[in-house]
Amino acid sequence: MGVFSGHTGSEDTSHEQVVFCQDKPSGLRAIIGIYSTALGPALGGTRFYPYATEDEAVHDVMELSRGMAYKNSLAGLDLGGGKAVIWGDPERGKSEALLRAYGRFVQSLGGRYITACDVGTYVADMDVVARECRWVTGRSEEHGGAGDSSVLTAWGVFQGMRAAAGHAWGKPSLAGRRVGVVGLGKVGKLLTGHLLEEGAAVVATDVCDRARDWARHAHPEVDLVDDEPALITSDIDIYAPCALGGALNDRTVPVLAAKIVAGAANNQLAHPGIDKALADRGILYVPDYLVNAGGVIQVADEIEGFDFERAKLRVTRIYDTTRRLLAEADAEGVPPSVTADRMAERRIAEVGRLSAIRVPPRTASRWG
Ligand SMILES: NC(=O)c1ccc[n+]([C@@H]2O[C@H](COP(=O)([O-])OP(=O)(O)OC[C@H]3O[C@@H](n4cnc5c(N)ncnc54)[C@H](O)[C@@H]3O)[C@@H](O)[C@H]2O)c1
Repeated sequence: MGVFSGHTGSEDTSHEQVVFCQDKPSGLRAIIGIYSTALGPALGGTRFYPYATEDEAVHDVMELSRGMAYKNSLAGLDLGGGKAVIWGDPERGKSEALLRAYGRFVQSLGGRYITACDVGTYVADMDVVARECRWVTGRSEEHGGAGDSSVLTAWGVFQGMRAAAGHAWGKPSLAGRRVGVVGLGKVGKLLTGHLLEEGAAVVATDVCDRARDWARHAHPEVDLVDDEPALITSDIDIYAPCALGGALNDRTVPVLAAKIVAGAANNQLAHPGIDKALADRGILYVPDYLVNAGGVIQVADEIEGFDFERAKLRVTRIYDTTRRLLAEADAEGVPPSVTADRMAERRIAEVGRLSAIRVPPRTASRWG
């Protein structure tokens, strides 16, 4: 039964906790999904989105929170997986009262869930949420936060891409390679900068005129093409999906020219089996949640008191994790996405069970 709308829906989940939060005067309708706290508090962003139905919002929070558990585990963080959605239009529905009401609900969970930015929420919003709640990351630098997480997301994608190149071609250098970037948003722009600096050629596209203008002015050497179909069938060595989910699907995989896929977008595989279709075509797919973990590593660092260099060092290790994962996938004879899930699940099981060994409480830190 839908709590807000009365709709019926069925979700088959293994989640620990799902919390529905409502504050009618401010218009807040939020759902917080905690998939697992086996490795620590469940960290994941807040998506503010005008879902068509409550079932759609529930489905999204379930999928996203599960995904965060896997991402945080593979990133080696002492954090579980959670995510929240605010059901509404971020352009018209966002207010100080709504964000603070949301902060009070997050606070009520006592640190089982730690929030951050996601689609539709920004660093400035997290500063407002933090006025009611201590379990907030992704705040502005003025408030001791890690700021814009796309900085280290792009760095991590770049490291994962280099590791994949080393695996596929024997050396990690991207110099002379042609990389196709779809989506010149916050991450795509920074990734383009890293690639050009390394000596790669970049082919790019974006549906937004402003993003295309940015490329024309900032990097005239970028080869801009009309759209995604034109980009993926062009002569590229590596494909970096940096726009929306579902980039690898029944339409794109059969015609994809690249030998490697490594990009920032979440949920790139449109459906189960697409990873196998990529492998059958000899395309090396580096799992999205492995290479795009830089953002969560960046904001998670706030929990210790943010230090950019320490966070960057941790994100740089995505290179080593990617090398190890791709070698293990080869040894097992399975697509890298299968190995990624296995590695993430193994760490949740092996490290997560250690809390069964009783120890005296540790000295309380700012985070409890
Ligand atoms: N920002 C982060 O720290 C972070 C972390 C992990 C994952 N991600 C994921 O990476 C992706 C990019 O994130 P971002 O922060 O750069 O988002 P963004 O909104 O800043 O950029 C996305 C860009 O993609 C473009 N786009 C949308 N649809 C397109 C299409 N069909 N063809 C071409 N371009 C299209 C948009 O115009 C926009 O410029 C998203 O999927 C996001 O979920 C981001």
